[in-house]
Amino acid sequence: MPKSEVKTSLLDNMIGVGDSVLLEPLTEDTFLENLKNRFDHSEIYTYIGSVVISVNPYRHLPIYTPEKVEEYRNRNFYELSPHIYALADEAYRSLRDQDKDQCILITGESGAGKTEASKLVMSYVAAVCGKGAEVNQVKEQLLQSNPVLEAFGNAKTMRNDNSSRFGKYMDIEFDFKGDPLGGVISNYLLEKSRVVKQPRGERNFHIFYQLLSGGSEDLLKQLKLEREFNQYNYLGLDSAKVNGVDDAANFRTVKNAMQIVGFMDDEVELVLEVVAAVLKLGNIEFKPESRVNGLDESRIQDKNELKEICELLGQDQAVLERAFSFRTVEAKQEKVSTTLNVAQAYYARDALAKNLYNRLFTWLVNRINESIKAQSKVRKKVMGVLDIYGFEIFENNSFEQFIINYCNEKLQQIFIELTLKEEQEEYIKEGIEWTHIEYFNNAIICELIENNTNGILAMLDEECLRPGTVTDETFLEKLNQVCAVHERFESRMSKSSRFLNDTTLPHNCFRIQHYAGKVMYHVEGFVDKNNDLLYRDLSQAMWKTNHVLVKSLFPEGNPAKMSLKRPPTAGSQFKASVATLMKNLQTKNPNYIRCIKPNDQKAPHIFAEALVRHQVRYLGLMENVRVRRAGYAFKQPYESCLERYKMLCSQTWPHWRQGSRDGVKVLLTELQIPPEEFSYGRSKIFIRNPRTLFELEDLRKRRLEDLATLIQKIYRGWKCRTNFLLMKKSQIIISAWTKRHFQRKKYLQLKSVTLIIQSYIRGWKARKLLRELKHQKRCEESATTIAAYWRGFQARRELKRLKEEARRKHAVAVIWAYWLGLKVRREYRKFFRANAGKKIYEFTIQRIMQKYFLEMKKKLPSMSPTEKTWPPRPYFFLDDTHTELKRIFHLWRCKKYRDQFTEQKKAIFEEKLEASELFKDKKALYTNSVQQPFQGDYLEISKNPKYQKLNGAVEEKIVLADVVNKINRANGKVAPRIFLLTQSNFILADQKSGQIKSTIPVMDITSVSVSKQTDGLFAVHLKEGSTAAAKGDFLFTSDRLIEIITKLYRTIFFKTNQKINVEINNEFLVQFNQDKVCVKFIQGAQKNGNLPTCKRKNNRLLEVTVP
Ligand SMILES: Nc1ncnc2c1ncn2[C@@H]1O[C@H](COP(=O)(O)OP(=O)(O)O)[C@@H](O)[C@H]1O
Ligand SMILES: [Mg+2]
Repeated sequence: MPKSEVKTSLLDNMIGVGDSVLLEPLTEDTFLENLKNRFDHSEIYTYIGSVVISVNPYRHLPIYTPEKVEEYRNRNFYELSPHIYALADEAYRSLRDQDKDQCILITGESGAGKTEASKLVMSYVAAVCGKGAEVNQVKEQLLQSNPVLEAFGNAKTMRNDNSSRFGKYMDIEFDFKGDPLGGVISNYLLEKSRVVKQPRGERNFHIFYQLLSGGSEDLLKQLKLEREFNQYNYLGLDSAKVNGVDDAANFRTVKNAMQIVGFMDDEVELVLEVVAAVLKLGNIEFKPESRVNGLDESRIQDKNELKEICELLGQDQAVLERAFSFRTVEAKQEKVSTTLNVAQAYYARDALAKNLYNRLFTWLVNRINESIKAQSKVRKKVMGVLDIYGFEIFENNSFEQFIINYCNEKLQQIFIELTLKEEQEEYIKEGIEWTHIEYFNNAIICELIENNTNGILAMLDEECLRPGTVTDETFLEKLNQVCAVHERFESRMSKSSRFLNDTTLPHNCFRIQHYAGKVMYHVEGFVDKNNDLLYRDLSQAMWKTNHVLVKSLFPEGNPAKMSLKRPPTAGSQFKASVATLMKNLQTKNPNYIRCIKPNDQKAPHIFAEALVRHQVRYLGLMENVRVRRAGYAFKQPYESCLERYKMLCSQTWPHWRQGSRDGVKVLLTELQIPPEEFSYGRSKIFIRNPRTLFELEDLRKRRLEDLATLIQKIYRGWKCRTNFLLMKKSQIIISAWTKRHFQRKKYLQLKSVTLIIQSYIRGWKARKLLRELKHQKRCEESATTIAAYWRGFQARRELKRLKEEARRKHAVAVIWAYWLGLKVRREYRKFFRANAGKKIYEFTIQRIMQKYFLEMKKKLPSMSPTEKTWPPRPYFFLDDTHTELKRIFHLWRCKKYRDQFTEQKKAIFEEKLEASELFKDKKALYTNSVQQPFQGDYLEISKNPKYQKLNGAVEEKIVLADVVNKINRANGKVAPRIFLLTQSNFILADQKSGQIKSTIPVMDITSVSVSKQTDGLFAVHLKEGSTAAAKGDFLFTSDRLIEIITKLYRTIFFKTNQKINVEINNEFLVQFNQDKVCVKFIQGAQKNGNLPTCKRKNNRLLEVTVP
C-alpha cells in the first residue's frame, strides 16, 4: 500500500478477517483457516476483539520500524490492521489519558514469542512516551534490564534458543504526563534444576557460556576458569554452541547492560565469582570409602577444585569439606551428625549449586529493582507486563509443569473474569440488556490445586511436613484418597470407578483435566522439589564465607538467627506469589497478547495446523471469541459508523447535520436492515451478526465505486473547465502582451523620428547662431587689429625718431671726443716715449708669471717620489713651462728623498737593486727575498769564540758569513758548511769546528747557475785549470741564495771589474772532476721545507727534485 493512502478501518484491505469475532461461520476450522491465511500473507497478528493473537513468524518482518511506530501512534485500536503496536498504544493512551493502570498479559507456550512480544511492547512505549535526558535514562535502564535477566535466566531449549526459564512480571511506572519514572520486576520460579542437569540438546543458562567465551584471559584466570566448555560437568556436552548466537559478543552486551542499569564494577565481579563457583562445584567428585560398620562414606576425590572454590568465595576449605561429608540434624536441642554416602554428597553438591544460582538470580532481580525503582514519591500510573511460561504439556511432566500449568489456570481465570466483566460493563454503560453467556469457568480446576484444605498443593505440603517416611508414592496415595472424587482429577488408584480401566495412566501418575487439555504428571520428585532442601550444614558453611555477596544470600546460615521452623515449601511460596500477582492484575485494565507457535522447527513459513489447533484449544481462543460474540459481534461508535457508511443513504450523504446516533438510525432504517440485527447503545451501535456488517461493507464497496465514478466525472468536468478558464485567461494575457508590445514598438519609432527631426532643426539653428556670432567676433577683432597696427605704426615712427635723435647725439659726442683727443694728443705729444707699449706688455707678463709661481707654491703636491698628481695649468701659454716645472720638481723631490739615506743604507739598496736586476722575473725564489734585509754576516764570527781560529785566519773584511749546505758531488748528499765571503776570497769551513776546508779566490769564479724555481740550489763554476777547480764546481743550497749570489756577484765585480755570468735555467752543466754533469730540476713532492733533494743518477745526470 502506498504511504499516502491511509487506512481508516480495520476492515480495509483485509486478508481473511482481522478480527476473528467477525468470522462467519465461526468454527474452529474457519478460525484456523483465517489464522493460516493471514500467516501466509505475513499478517502475524489477528484480533479477537481487543485480544491480540500473535503467530511467531520465526523471521524478521519489516513491521517494527520507527515509521510503523508513527503510523500506530495515537490511532484508534480498530483503525489500522492488527498489530501489537495498536495494543501497546491503546494501553499507553488509556493509562496516560484515562488514568487507568494497565497490565499486558502475554501467554503462550515456550517459543511462541512471548518475550519478544513483551520487548516490542516496552520498546513501543519507550518510543512514544516523553523525551528528555532524565526520561531517556530511565527508559534505557528499563530496556537494558532485559539483556541482564536474559543472560542469567534464559537458556537454549529444544523449543526455543532463547527460552526464558523464569516468569517475569514488570511494572513500569509513569508520572501524570505519561513519562516513565521507573519500574519493579518480579520473578517467578527460576528453573534451577537446569543448573546441574540439562535435557539432551539443551544448554545451561546463557551466562556460563557467555562468561567462558567472552571473558578475557585475565578475568578467567582470576575466576580460576578454563575456556573450554567440556571442562565442566554442569555444561551439557552437546549443543554447547548455538547457531547464530555469539556468546562472546553477548557477554560484552550483558556487561554493558549491567553498567547502564547501575551495577558497580565490584558488584559485577562478585556476581561473576558466584557464577564461576557454581560452575566449579559441578566438578567436585566423590568416591566411596568403606567404614567399619560396613557403610560407605563419601570422600572428595580431588581436593584441588574444592580449594579453588574456597579461594574464590573466601571460604575455609575444611568447613566446606565437612559440609559435604556430614549432615547435622537438630531436634529438640539435640544435634546429631551423620555421615553422607556418595549419593547424598552428590545431592548436597547439586542442591548447593542450584540454591546458590537461584539466590543469585533473585539477588540480581532485587539489585536491578533498586536501580530502576522510581525516585519520586508522586502518585504513579502503572503498566504491568507479564511474560510468563505458557501451558506446558510434555511427555514427562513433573512438579515444575504442575506449578506452571497452575499459574496458567489462574491467568485464564482472570482472563475470563475480566473479559466478561469488561463486556458486561460496556453493555451496562451503553444501556443494552445483558444476556447471560455460557462459557467454561475453570475456577473448579484452580480449586482442585490451591484449595487450602484439600487442594493438591496443600496435600503435598502436608506430606512434606509429616513425620515418618515420606515418599512420592505416599503423596500419590494421599491424593487418591482426597481428590479422587473430583471430576477433573484422574489416577489409576482413583476410587472413582470411572477411570479404573484406563490403562494409559501409569501407576505413579495422576492426571488433571486442565482447561487447556489433560495433563499427566509423574509424582516422582514432587516431595523433594517441594521441600527444596539444602542441608543446614551447607547454608551455614556458605554464611561463613568472606564473600559479601554469598554471605548475604544465605541469611538462614547465621547461627544467631537459626530457627527450627522449616522454610516455606516451594509450592506454597509459588502459590502465595501467584495470589499476589493475581490480586495485582485484578486492579488493572488487562490487555492480552496470546502467542502461538506455528511449528516445532523454529522455521519460517511453516504453519503446522495440528500444532496450532492444539494451542488454539488450550489457550481457549474459541472460548474467547464466543465470549466476545455473546450478544453482539461488532460494536462501533456512532461517529465512525456514520462516517464509514453515510454514503449509503441519500439523507446522510454527503452531510448529516444532526447527531450521529440519529444519522445511523436513519441510515439503517433506509437500508432496511432487520431491527433485531442491531441495538442502539448510548455511544455505540451494536451489530449482532458479522454477516450484517459484511453486507454493509459490500454495499459500501459498491457505493464507493459509484461514488468514485461520480467523483471522477465531476473531477474531469472540473478539470476541463479549469483548463478552459486557464487557457482563456492565458489568451487574454498573451493578446494584451502582444498589443502592448506593438504599441510600444510604434511609440519608440515615432519617438526616435521626432528626436532626429528635432536634432536637425536644433543643429541648423545653432549653426546659424554660430555664424552670426563668428561674424560679430571677426568684426570686433578687425577693429582691434587695425587699432593695433595703427598704434604699432605710430610707436615705430616714434622709435625711429628717437633713435635718429640718439644717433645724432652720439655722433656729436664721438666727434666731440675725437676732437678733444686730437686736441689733447696735440698738447701732450711731447710727454710720451716711443716704446711704452712694449714695456707695458712685459710688465703685464711679468706680473702674470709672478702670480703663477706664487700660486704654484701654495698648490705643490706632497714630497713623496711616488706622488703622481700635479696642479692644472692656469694659462694656456704656460703649457710647456708647467710640464717642465713638474719634471724639475719631481727630480728635485727624488734627490731630496735620496739625500736622506746613509752610505750603509745606500749600499744595501744598491745590493737590493743588483739582486732585482739579476733575479727579478727570472727566479721564483726572488719574491721571497725582497722583504728580507741583506745582513751579510749572519754568524758574527768575530764575536763567537767558537770561530776564533777561523776569525784569525781571515784577514780581510767579511762580506758574508752563513751556513750553507754543500752537495756532495758523488752522491748528492748534503753537509753543512760555513760559507765565508771576503773581498777577495770565498772560504768554506767546517760548521762545528770552524776548520777551513777550502779557500777559493773570487777571481777563479767564472759563473754561477741557478734554477728558475723557488729552490735554493746554486752551482759555483770555477775557472778551468785553477787550483780551486781540482775537484770541480761547487753545488750548494741555501735559503739565502739571492743574497749570497748578489754579494758574490758584487764582490767579484769590485775585485775584477768584471760581471760574472749568472745562468738561470732548469737544466745546466757543471764540471765535476773530469765529468761534465747535467743538473736537472724536476718537480716533486715537498719533503723537508724548501730544500731540494739531489740524486746523482749517473755520470752525466744529477737530478734535483724541487717542491
Ligand atoms: N515478532 C517476532 N518477529 C520475529 N521473530 C520472532 C517474533 N517473536 C518471536 N520470534 C522468534 O521466536 C523466538 C522465540 O521467541 P520468545 O519470545 O523467546 O519465545 P517465548 O518467550 O515465548 O519462549 C525468538 O528468539 C525469535 O527468533
Ligand atoms: Mg520467553
